[in-house]
Amino acid sequence: MAVLDKLTSKDAIALEDKFGAHNYHPLPVVLSKGKGVYVWDVEGKRYYDFLSAYSAVNQGHCHPKIINALTVQAQKLTLTSRAFYNDMLGKYEEYATKYFGFDKLLPMNTGAEAVETAIKVCRKWAYEKKGIEEQNAQIVVCENNFHGRTTTIISFSNDEVAKKNFGPYTPGFIKIPYNNPEALEEVLEKNKNIAGFLVEPIQGEAGVYVPGEGFLSETRTICEKHNVLFIADEIQTGIARTGELLAVNYENVRPDILILGKALSGGVYPVSAVLADNEVMNVIKPGQHGSTFGGNPVAAAVAMEALQVVKDEKLAENAKVLGEIFRREINEYIKTSNIVKLVRGKGLLNAIVINDSEESSTAWDICMALKENGLLAKPTHGNIIRFAPPLVMTREQISDCIDIIKETLKEFEK
Ligand SMILES: Cc1ncc(COP(=O)(O)O)c(C=O)c1O
Repeated sequence: MAVLDKLTSKDAIALEDKFGAHNYHPLPVVLSKGKGVYVWDVEGKRYYDFLSAYSAVNQGHCHPKIINALTVQAQKLTLTSRAFYNDMLGKYEEYATKYFGFDKLLPMNTGAEAVETAIKVCRKWAYEKKGIEEQNAQIVVCENNFHGRTTTIISFSNDEVAKKNFGPYTPGFIKIPYNNPEALEEVLEKNKNIAGFLVEPIQGEAGVYVPGEGFLSETRTICEKHNVLFIADEIQTGIARTGELLAVNYENVRPDILILGKALSGGVYPVSAVLADNEVMNVIKPGQHGSTFGGNPVAAAVAMEALQVVKDEKLAENAKVLGEIFRREINEYIKTSNIVKLVRGKGLLNAIVINDSEESSTAWDICMALKENGLLAKPTHGNIIRFAPPLVMTREQISDCIDIIKETLKEFEK
């Protein structure tokens, strides 16, 4: 079959099934076009995208300004590696550090790479600045975390599916319960070898768990008291998704290390970054970390434009307003529902919990029915469905989507 032949959904799924590794379990829909809040399948059916590629497409599919930045730069210079300077990286680094308020940025490509980078920076800082004896630095993480899928990162996951039979695991991590500042205080009191605390401001993959008010600010204060770096993984929550530019802004927390990915490029190109002040970032010297593609000129051009769009189109403000409408309406529905237990989230990062066991197929079945009704969403864990549309959505569109969701849920009420 010629690569450019038009495929039916069935053909495309069969091809992936035969020639691709089975490392995902996608909803059976094959997409070939996206614009704003919509995607279309190969048969031409239009859907609302309620996943946004796990919050990467915050700016909407194929945003014209971001695509323009991509194509203009792609025709000039795409990759130099960091063996040489290029004329875009410095501009991007200045733009992004001023945008987020840090001294320096280290550019990478994927989220997991940025998390790995943050871990390396944190450990090096611990040995060279804090004075922890080499090989002894520990990083505190939270139960049910999701920070990516590299060997080191899965080493501190408690998701058995992600972890089993991938050992031996990387040591140097201590797990505490999420949303529990006292647990952090206890560990830091007891153990003088703690270098950092790595945390998601909202646990997205785990099922959009929003911690109690004060969790972020209290843990930030505890870290400061013990000279431990507060590392915020805002790969999913950042860049306007939760109704603020960063989810930590809700508690006026400034992390020592900020990790970004996904919407940093508007979903157009793999771009991730670690931001920190000089005191921390300057521990990294030539040869100690890098990536052939990290900081390439296309990534730099795309990321600058993607961040500018967030500001120009007031996407954080829009996410906040629409998120409140969404939760209010779904809460109203829940009052008389047997199938939905609760809705939770911030801005346009939300989830509903289905009134069935984690092992049941109900959430999956609801997502299949949503698909039939023109809206794409995916269960996170068993009985939880995440709802995270692009942030360029209008009030009319969110009302339309709420209607689709309610009508679909009604099909499952007993
Ligand atoms: C909080 C968080 N950290 C890290 C990652 C990993 O990002 P990537 O899939 O780009 O490696 C994700 C992906 O969902 C995430 O949600």
